[in-house]
Amino acid sequence: MARRIGILGFGSYVPKRVMTNADWSELVDTDDEWILSRTGIRERHFAADDESTLDLAAHAANRAIADAGLTPADIDEIIVASDTPEVYTPDTAAHLQHRIGAGEVTAYDLGGSGCAGFVLALDIARTRVHMASKRVLVVGVELISRLMDWTDRTTCVLFGDAAGAVVVGEGEAVRAEILSASAGTDGSAADILTLETGGTRRPFTLAEARKGGQHDIVMNGREVYRHAVRRMSEAAEKVLELAGRLKADVSLVIPHQANLRILETVREKLGLRPEQVYVNVDRYGNTGSATVPLALAEACEEGRIAQGDLVVLTAFGAGFHWSAAALQF
Ligand code: ACO
Repeated sequence: MARRIGILGFGSYVPKRVMTNADWSELVDTDDEWILSRTGIRERHFAADDESTLDLAAHAANRAIADAGLTPADIDEIIVASDTPEVYTPDTAAHLQHRIGAGEVTAYDLGGSGCAGFVLALDIARTRVHMASKRVLVVGVELISRLMDWTDRTTCVLFGDAAGAVVVGEGEAVRAEILSASAGTDGSAADILTLETGGTRRPFTLAEARKGGQHDIVMNGREVYRHAVRRMSEAAEKVLELAGRLKADVSLVIPHQANLRILETVREKLGLRPEQVYVNVDRYGNTGSATVPLALAEACEEGRIAQGDLVVLTAFGAGFHWSAAALQF
């Protein structure tokens, strides 16, 4: 009999502090009308000063483990997808393993895959379960507010902080079987959306730190928009094809929440009705690799997903990287 590999439990965490468009308009030259009409974002949550990437990740991880009816001791491997790690090295996964008390299990980060990181990590987890029959904790987490330039209106209004997590395993306890997954990369676009500071091309020196410690996210918004729409819809179609399913079979698509206009164009390209695409970008903004697991956990909590539903995850980010998965609940 074919093995059923998939998600055993879901969890998410959003920090309490809310930053509205009106709040941003007091800090930079912007207004609610511009942000809402261009992005669909009304507000986003930012971590408190005493919260770190690890805190966000640990909350989401503990919730996913509890939701799976497990304890941290049941986890055999940890993958953290993040472009905003706890420290430069070692990775957030090592810190997370210790924080949640998971035992000396393999733990590693998938960094630099931008907003596509979580779904790619989910695919890796599926393979690891297949190869080694493990229970893998997969976390998508970003604390972007601490690394972005708070004076650059063209990027700062887009992002928020959050974490989402799932536990991947196999057997009877699987609540969402991973039917198929796919990912791709176009490295020729590496400079279109990038955060260079901290790498060897542009080391984060003491002099730079004294200037205020801010990094710059460099982004060609229009190019990102164009590629995001194309890659996210193509990736969704690809995983349906791999799963032997049709667009007509899809109950819900959970896309990376970059902005509402991208989501609407993806929906039109896929020929879906508005209620078939999950949207929460209005409340959280773009939380990078956390958007998909956060939306997935929220959709489950809200009862948007029923037993028997076919759900497609599709994501796109810096790299450019894209990734998608088809889930059978
Ligand atoms: N408030 C007011 N005005 C602004 C703001 C702001 N926050 N930001 C930019 N503007 C101004 C610009 O300076 C420009 O003014 P100018 O014409 O006088 O030069 C004007 O608005 C238009 O700027 P554009 O960049 O052309 O605006 P556009 O309509 O392309 O929208 C946006 C920009 C929202 C970034 C859009 O390109 C987009 O959604 N791109 C996708 C990028 C994205 O989602 N990135 C997220 C990270 S990547 C990812 O998740 C996949």
